[in-house]
Amino acid sequence: MRVLVAGGAGYIGSVVTAALLADGHEVTVLDDLSTGHADAVPSGATLAAVSLHESAPVLADVRPEAVLHFAAKSLVGVSQQRPHEYWDTNVGGSLALLEAMRAHHCRRIVFSSTAATYGEPESVPIREDAPTRPTNTYGASKLAVDHMLTSYAVAHGFAAVSLRYFNVAGAAHGLGERHAVETHLIPIALQVAAGERETLTVYGDDYPTPDGTCIRDYVHVEDLADAHLLALPAPAAGEHRIYNLGNGTGFSVQQVVDAAREVTGHPVPVVVGERRAGDPAQLVASSDLIRAELGWAPRHTDLAGIVRDAWDVARAR
Ligand code: UFG
Repeated sequence: MRVLVAGGAGYIGSVVTAALLADGHEVTVLDDLSTGHADAVPSGATLAAVSLHESAPVLADVRPEAVLHFAAKSLVGVSQQRPHEYWDTNVGGSLALLEAMRAHHCRRIVFSSTAATYGEPESVPIREDAPTRPTNTYGASKLAVDHMLTSYAVAHGFAAVSLRYFNVAGAAHGLGERHAVETHLIPIALQVAAGERETLTVYGDDYPTPDGTCIRDYVHVEDLADAHLLALPAPAAGEHRIYNLGNGTGFSVQQVVDAAREVTGHPVPVVVGERRAGDPAQLVASSDLIRAELGWAPRHTDLAGIVRDAWDVARAR
């Protein structure tokens, strides 16, 4: 298939681009390189270095049969301080992309949604029919696009899938996380192990969990890529499907730190700090729906294996 990957120079988008190329698809990456890296775009894909707002001429030129849409601002904390950036890029940019798709008769899309659309869960594991009450602008902006896709499916016959990622981690095709400002737990733990940072701050150890630290569902980026390939052809015209993507197993911050120590063989000194605003105690996915409907099955469920893949790529860099 001829596909456009918006955000294909980022962490997840670049890994999925590599998987699409390996599967025989023809890929154009659209990315304004605001947080992505041109050298992360796998060779074999063409890069159009423009923003979502400027996507119409690219669609006119490429005439894709489908779009995979990863391009977004994705830092929860920043979304609270500078909400206009999140509404502008995540919502305004997505609207521009959907309008460009409509104008150029491309109606198939897979969208990167997030567990942050649910907010503080009433029960875990979280199913897709759980209430969506985001607690930050990031989650609200992604939920707005989910609603946009539902209405474009109904009104314009779009065939859409929203994949609600939980905590994406690991590396594949030599591509891993590389953020200018790193906020995610696993890369920070590995930076401490590598001696690039002195300590890791654990954001609170008084949560109602077995060891007092927050529990998250870490899903390997390669398993995520598998899910995109399965999702791409799945919906019929007029259909918008929503699937959670996680391993279904929760690991605590303490368990992640222990895994980083074990995998790297280096000490990872920690200090316990205040809770981070907006962090739910536990976010674990029920991924039963995508398993049942698309036959998705994660291949990397072992935390140490996920951390090892991230470590190998970070070290190679
Ligand atoms: N944490 C620390 N210290 C750090 C960094 C993180 O203790 O230095 C803790 C956090 O408090 C949290 C856990 O590690 O409990 C994971 O934090 P991350 O920042 O790695 O990830 P989040 O769970 O906050 O968020 C991720 C994505 C979001 C997405 C969310 C959905 O970054 O985009 O998962 O589950 F919305």
